[in-house]
Amino acid sequence: APDLRRAAARVLAANWTGASTVPSRTLYPHQWSWDSAFVAIGLRHLSAHRAQRELESLFAAQWADGRLPHIVFNPAVPADAYFPSPDFWRSSRAGRAAGAPTAPETSGIVQPPVHALAAWLVHGADPELSRRTGFLHRAYPRLTAWHDYLLTRRDLGGGGLAAAVHPWEPGTDNSPCWDRALARVTAAPPDTFRRADLDHGHPHDRPTDLDYGRYVRLAGDYRDAGYDDRAARPAFAVEDPCFNALLIAGEHALAAAARALGRDAAPHTARAAALTRALLTRLWDAEAGLFRVRDLGPDTLVGERAVTGLVPLLVPHLPPGVAHALRRTLAGPAFAAPATRLVPSYDLTGPAFDPQRYWRGPAWFNTAWLIHRGLRAHGFRPDADRLRHGFLAEARRSRFAEYVDPVTGAARGARHFSWTAALALDLLH
Ligand code: DGY
Repeated sequence: APDLRRAAARVLAANWTGASTVPSRTLYPHQWSWDSAFVAIGLRHLSAHRAQRELESLFAAQWADGRLPHIVFNPAVPADAYFPSPDFWRSSRAGRAAGAPTAPETSGIVQPPVHALAAWLVHGADPELSRRTGFLHRAYPRLTAWHDYLLTRRDLGGGGLAAAVHPWEPGTDNSPCWDRALARVTAAPPDTFRRADLDHGHPHDRPTDLDYGRYVRLAGDYRDAGYDDRAARPAFAVEDPCFNALLIAGEHALAAAARALGRDAAPHTARAAALTRALLTRLWDAEAGLFRVRDLGPDTLVGERAVTGLVPLLVPHLPPGVAHALRRTLAGPAFAAPATRLVPSYDLTGPAFDPQRYWRGPAWFNTAWLIHRGLRAHGFRPDADRLRHGFLAEARRSRFAEYVDPVTGAARGARHFSWTAALALDLLH
């Protein structure tokens, strides 16, 4: 393990820009929101101070309406290194009404709220340092405003959950869970934009051109509505179980943070309880033994089964029957991949399963880490240990790949991927 720890630390050192960590030097050369949260969770074992800076670099780009943007652009990186670049998002101008900062340039959409959990863990790594630097004290109002944004402006379904308005928001870009909702979106013509991801990623590992045409259309329409959730009429709106489970875990983390700061934790525990009830009422499918996505277009549950439906295992105080059902589903034919012991992003027996293509089957390390945390929290120790061993073995074998084929373990996407290295470090501690 010492060599794996050293190798992971080397990845994080190489991907550190001086203020934050890029997910990958090639494919993702700026700061990404949920990537940074996962990175901070691992980084805290190397340097609590750097982990604080990682999160604060993101907080510095927070919009006045509370949103944390999914990308914070590094002005030193050439515009053609990543698409969509700042001149597509035009956040400082187009986002003015929604409170985008004048600098730095950011995207206008969001990613899953892992940040409160990350900030609480970073604080705990060195509470004395956190008190001295005022880290938790500054992070707390930022995180509260972020959750306020999600719980008010983004409750598009009116049922108490936060909705995503772009497939990049739940973070699982081309998951089969979005296929039906995306079929209603007219793709932007292919000659109106140029993908930069294919300069570095294999076309079979990445979303298709048709997917990209739809991503561009949705992001462009949102931008043209000023990123204003009251003005925008999103053609795509979904409630994702992973996104909302992280929001619940984040409220529990904020309750703990409030107590540490001598404030009232009750608003957070009340919100966590209300969110948990809404998650169970709106997304739980008892028959299937997992949580589903709600497509707010027709206001129905989506039939596809994805790893994101298992991540709510990390929610504290789940009804025991729900936790046991999730554990059974994880061990069943749809999600058990015995060779790698990782969790595929999509049902192994499902009609859209593709072991190679991004979120349509490959196993990812961040979802494995979240499920591992859930298995431990609910006392499923042997299952948690099996997943942990699979995680560390595959992270090593794949050179910290972005994702792997869940059946063969073949590395896919980027290598030396930051959150894979960071979360390996965390599991080694
Ligand atoms: C990408 O560019 O592939 C990301 O997943 C979107 O943020």
